[in-house]
Amino acid sequence: MSERVEIFEVGPRDGLQNEARQIPVAEKIALVDCLGRAGFRRIECASFVSPKWVPQMADSGDVLAGITRVPGVSYAALTPNMKGFEAAMAAGADEVAIFGSASEGFSRANINASIAESLERFRPVAEAATARGVPVRGYVSCVVECPYDGAVAPEEVARVVGALREMGCYEISLGDTIGRGTPEAVDAMLAAVLGAVPAARLAGHFHDTAGRALENIEVALERGLRVFDAAVGGLGGCPYAPGAAGNVATEAVAARLEVLGYETGLDMAVLEEAAALARAMRG
Ligand code: HMG
Ligand code: MG
Repeated sequence: MSERVEIFEVGPRDGLQNEARQIPVAEKIALVDCLGRAGFRRIECASFVSPKWVPQMADSGDVLAGITRVPGVSYAALTPNMKGFEAAMAAGADEVAIFGSASEGFSRANINASIAESLERFRPVAEAATARGVPVRGYVSCVVECPYDGAVAPEEVARVVGALREMGCYEISLGDTIGRGTPEAVDAMLAAVLGAVPAARLAGHFHDTAGRALENIEVALERGLRVFDAAVGGLGGCPYAPGAAGNVATEAVAARLEVLGYETGLDMAVLEEAAALARAMRG
């Protein structure tokens, strides 16, 4: 039997958060429900951040309330602070994510805090989640390059990843937020990070701005990573990362993994349906 690689679907969150048109909640729910039928085990579909910072995500509670939950699927939400965590719990999120950065410039632009301040803000969230038995995922943005600070040192990425792991994150997702990572830079970053945290606790999160996301996923596979974030239909970007194009498209990652001999457990026909829905939602 071929080895399993999991795609963590982030389209309804990372994909949609950047869309200028306010997407009706019914459309978001239809997309999440289609993704649930496609066989994902984890779907990020909500973000309890300030509605002033990311208006598109303001209806996250309505999305979680309206979806048809597939048993065994974890519906995930971003929670930058305790206010977001409490809202996520009230809305019934199955897991939460705290999201930091390896570069000071992006940390400031995205969450209005230095890296050190952000880690202090995340700690109570991680503690509260752990106390309630809610899994906490971590993100580190700008793992190779920052739109404000330029190249990011691999040791700095390793340091922030180590801090999130120490707080109890069960998995830390490494974000090439602006998709400028070359395979060589990604490999050097992974070499440093793997000195702090084992591959089984890491995920790759590649935006596809320069069309190198699939190559970078192959580099990460060689380094032992077996979880990759992707957005159906290639939706996405980040409102606080100028120039960031969409996430790598889920259907492209699934197809490449199949060619490489890995199993994803996804129903490709339903995935194609979800991709069509996602593309229709794009502004
Ligand atoms: P701040 O302005 O410093 O927050 O923002 P504050 O604590 O001073 O509060 C200011 C106001 O925001 C207050 O309201 C708070 O109640 C409210 P007011 O009294 O002015 O009416 N507020 C909240 N409202 C709802 N939910 C909350 C919340 N917290 C405060 N959770 C803050 C700090 C973190 C809140 C803000 O900067 C923010 O929301 N940032 C989120 C930005 C974001 O969502 N970016 C996209 C996601 S990250 C990403 O896409 C990267 C990733 O995909 C990986 C990769 O690709 O690299 C994950
Ligand atoms: Mg992202």
